[in-house]
Amino acid sequence: MSNMLEIITKKRDKHPLTQEDIAFWIKELVAQRIPDYQSSALLMAIVLNGLSEQETAWLTHEMMHSGDVVDLSSIQGITNDKHSTGGVGDKTSLVLAPMVAACGGKVAKMSGRGLGHTGGTIDKLESFPGFSTEISSERFAQLVNDNGLAIMGQSKNLVPADKLLYALRDVTGTVPAIPLIASSIMSKKLAAGSDAILLDVKFGDGAFMKDVNQARELAMAMISIGKHANKNTKAILSDMNQPLGFAIGNALEVKEAIATLKGEGPEDLTQLCIEAASLMLVQAQLYTDVDKAKEAVVASLHDGSALAKFRTFIEAQGGDPTYVDDVSLLPQAKHITPFKATQTGIIQTIQAMPLGLAASYLGAGRLTKDDVLKFGVGLVLKAKVGNHVSEGDVICDIHHDDPLPQDVLDKLNDAIVIAQESVKPLVLIHEICE
Ligand code: URA
Repeated sequence: MSNMLEIITKKRDKHPLTQEDIAFWIKELVAQRIPDYQSSALLMAIVLNGLSEQETAWLTHEMMHSGDVVDLSSIQGITNDKHSTGGVGDKTSLVLAPMVAACGGKVAKMSGRGLGHTGGTIDKLESFPGFSTEISSERFAQLVNDNGLAIMGQSKNLVPADKLLYALRDVTGTVPAIPLIASSIMSKKLAAGSDAILLDVKFGDGAFMKDVNQARELAMAMISIGKHANKNTKAILSDMNQPLGFAIGNALEVKEAIATLKGEGPEDLTQLCIEAASLMLVQAQLYTDVDKAKEAVVASLHDGSALAKFRTFIEAQGGDPTYVDDVSLLPQAKHITPFKATQTGIIQTIQAMPLGLAASYLGAGRLTKDDVLKFGVGLVLKAKVGNHVSEGDVICDIHHDDPLPQDVLDKLNDAIVIAQESVKPLVLIHEICE
C-alpha cells in the first residue's frame, strides 16, 4: 500500500515510482483525499527529477481513466484526431478536418476554447450563430459515420485529474516539465477515444515550446505515450515565430479557412493543412504512400469536395450553411483601422505572442473567464516575415468594435520590426516525428 509521504520522498531521492504509487496518487487526488501541498511537492519533485517513459505512460493511463472515456467503437473505420499545442492564427483544424473527410477519413475531434494568447477551435466555430459542440457521444459518433467529421467540446468529466493537476501546476511553478505537459495533453487525447492521433507541436515565440529541440522532446514524449497505449501517434514540428496565415480572430479566421478550402488560402496555412491531412490519411490506412495521399488532399481543395464537407458539418451541428456560401454574413467588426509601416525595409519579425495578445485586447479572446467574445474583431496581416514594405504601406488591418486601445498599437509596434537587412524566410514545417 502506497502513501503520499513515501511517494514524494522516493521521487525527491530520484528513485522510480511504481505503477501502484502513481495509481494511488491519481485516485486519491480525484477523490480529494490528498492535501494540495503533498501533490504540489510531488509535482515539484517531478519537475526537478523527471519521469521515465514508463512512469509517464502509467501517469497518463491513470489520468485518462480518472473520468469519462469516449467510446467511438460504433464508428466504422479508423478514427483520426488531431491536436495542436496552441498557436496564433491557427485555424488548421477547420481546414484539414473537412479535407480528410472529403478523402474518406473519419475525423472525430475533441476541441477546446482559447487559452491565453492562443485561439480555440470552438470559439472560432461559434462565429456561426447556432453552431454547437455540446453534443452527446452517440450523436458525435453518428455524425462522424454520416459525414466523416464532427467536433465535440470537452465533456465536464473528461480527465478530472488533469483539471486538478493543471490548477495546482499553474500556481506552483510546475507547468514547464515535459512529462507533465505530455501526460496532460495525451490523457485528454486518449480519453477522446480516437484510433490515430496527429500532434502539431509548435515552437517559437508564440508557442509553449520556445525552440525546436524542446518541441521535439515534447513530441517524442507524446509519441512514446501513444505507443504504450497502442495508438498510432505522429507529430509535425511547426514554426510559430509568426502567426499562421494572415487572420487572427474568430470570424476572420473562419473566413480565411473557407478561402483555403476553396484553394485560395495563404501559402503557409495551405501547406500545413495539406501535410497534416495527408499524414492523417496514411494513419487511417486509406493510403500507404503519403505523396498519393497529398494528391487526393490537393484535389479535394480544387474540386469543391472539402468545402462541401465543411458546409455539411456546419449545418449538422446547428450552424447556418448559407454563411459558408456568403462569408459577408459572418460577424464583422464595426471599424477597420490600417496599421502602416513607418519606414521602408524588410519585415524582420511579426511576433506571434504580442499579436495574439493584441487580438485578445480587441475582444477576440478572453481576459477573464466570463468575458463574452466579439466574433468579428481581430487582425489581418498584409505581409509576412521577409516581405519588403514601403513607408506608408498597410501591414495589418485592425478590426475593432470599440475605440482602439493604445495597448493594441503598442503590441503591434513591439511585434512588427522593419529593418534594412535581408532575413532568412521562416521554414514552417521543421520535421515529422514518429
Ligand atoms: N496544454 C495542456 O493541455 N497541458 C499542459 O500541461 C500544457 C499545455
